[in-house]
Amino acid sequence: MPALKILVIPGSLRTGSLNVRLAATAAHQFAQAGVEVTRISLADFSLPVYDADLQSKSGVPKNAVNLKRMIGAHHGVLMVTPEYNASVPPLVKNTIDWVSRVQDANETRGQVFRGRAFAIAAASESRLGGTRSLAALRLILTACHAVVIPNQLALSFSSDAYDDMDRLKHPADIEALGALVRQLIEFSQRLM
Ligand SMILES: Cc1cc2nc3c(=O)[nH]c(=O)nc-3n(C[C@H](O)[C@H](O)[C@H](O)COP(=O)(O)O)c2cc1C
Repeated sequence: MPALKILVIPGSLRTGSLNVRLAATAAHQFAQAGVEVTRISLADFSLPVYDADLQSKSGVPKNAVNLKRMIGAHHGVLMVTPEYNASVPPLVKNTIDWVSRVQDANETRGQVFRGRAFAIAAASESRLGGTRSLAALRLILTACHAVVIPNQLALSFSSDAYDDMDRLKHPADIEALGALVRQLIEFSQRLM
């Protein structure tokens, strides 16, 4: 059996992003679990706002095709999203929308999502920890026929969630991240 590969996608480009920090913590946990983990930045896959006329004229942008192939080269994906106005930020939705339009040879459109294991997490300064963005993201990914694992992590009061060594300090957060990591590994192995 090939080595399990997990892709971690933070849904923020911001310097000092809470979600990039959580994505880095999660990537570390996957590596500790013996998984081959890749953490990307969506800054390397920048995309215009989705426009069907643009797609008709120029096709799906190369960055969307590249990201689709990057996802396809991994058995499971963790998306770590900020919450904007009780939903996912435009960066996250726009990225998924473009990737869902990619159709490689001998594939259906958006096939990369189908049956692939996805985990979702969010970090926010608020008490809810981005729970509403997780609900939105789960709905979007499910509509794309991804297998979104039942566990999820909403990291509330996120800038106070780490100790001096940049490790999560609250037992409930440590447990929730551990459960998420374990379940994504389990689902990804089952589906590979
Ligand atoms: C337009 C906008 C809307 C926001 N709406 C919410 C919200 O509904 N819930 C929430 O917890 N935080 C909200 N925030 C705060 C973000 O969660 C916060 O800026 C967070 O740090 C963004 O994630 P990042 O640090 O990974 O970039 C909002 C921020 C912006 C810019």
